[in-house]
Amino acid sequence: MAAGAMFEAALRSLTSGGLAAIPTETVYGLAADALDAKAVLAIFQRKERPAFDPLIVHIHAVSQAEMLAEVSPEARRVMERFWPGPVTLVLPRRPIVPDLVSSGLPTVALRMPAHPLALELLRRLNRPLAAPSANRFGRISPTCAHHVREQFPEGDFPILDGGPCHVGVESTVFALEPQALILRPGAVTAEMLESVIDRPVRLAQREERSASILASPGLLAQHYAPRTPLRLRQGDWDAGAGLLAFDGHDLPKNAVAEILSPSGDVAQAAHNLFAALRRLDAANHPRLMAELVPNQGLGQAINDRLRRAAGLG
Ligand code: TXA
Ligand code: MG
Repeated sequence: MAAGAMFEAALRSLTSGGLAAIPTETVYGLAADALDAKAVLAIFQRKERPAFDPLIVHIHAVSQAEMLAEVSPEARRVMERFWPGPVTLVLPRRPIVPDLVSSGLPTVALRMPAHPLALELLRRLNRPLAAPSANRFGRISPTCAHHVREQFPEGDFPILDGGPCHVGVESTVFALEPQALILRPGAVTAEMLESVIDRPVRLAQREERSASILASPGLLAQHYAPRTPLRLRQGDWDAGAGLLAFDGHDLPKNAVAEILSPSGDVAQAAHNLFAALRRLDAANHPRLMAELVPNQGLGQAINDRLRRAAGLG
């Protein structure tokens, strides 16, 4: 389908209460009108996602954020500095947001994606879009249009192809209250957020993620999981496994491996992460082994996803 026709098909589907897969700078999303509870329900059904796992709402303007949530001066500073971009803010929700979107929590998660097609679609619709990652629940997030097609081969909703996602891992999920906590690490790091809000920002511990007030129940240990069992490297590489290496400097001879960034760049590694994991998963290895990457910048997000893929949360 030509690019313009694809865009119009997505627009039509979303306007009439249907679904569409949309590109963002992080991963592809499975979108529906966030203010239409029936449309939102279809996202949960299509993804086989449990109703207790709240969705992120995508918007194109800060004025839209104010319609949906209470925006403190501090939250506004974060928006002005990082939007459009890969950070999601968890804010007190206004009644206009259907309960289902935020799984009955008193908060709603908002973000403005930095992808020209997503922003254009949001402007044309002038409605917020609820969109979780466009994969079946618990599986690897899609970073290009064909990953979405593989997960949903039925072809019952349009997929807007915006090319490979630039960042490659999901947005930072950031709650300001009752404490400044990162519920899911992403490209916008604690240090970057601290520079804007002038108070300490830390990464939530596992228990804090499931505590009721900050409930981010989607952030369960078994997430981002390939079908092949995956272990994290502790000492030597396991020569009988499919290997996921950072820069590949000490791979055994004849190893079957994916190298995330030969030059050792964590941003490049994040960009390649999910596609590499998918290829390894499709290659019929008995098991997979992955190594953690330097824990700086996007390295924290990569290591978080690798731990989850290994079932360690
Ligand atoms: O980069 C991204 O954020 C992508 C693209 C499509 O925007 N979306 C994404 O959505 O990763 P999803 O549903 O796969 O992950 C959203 C996570 C959920 O696991 C959920 O736990 C958390 O955000 N979340 C959503 N609403 C929340 C809320 N009100 N309070 C705490 N956590 C929330
Ligand atoms: Mg997801």
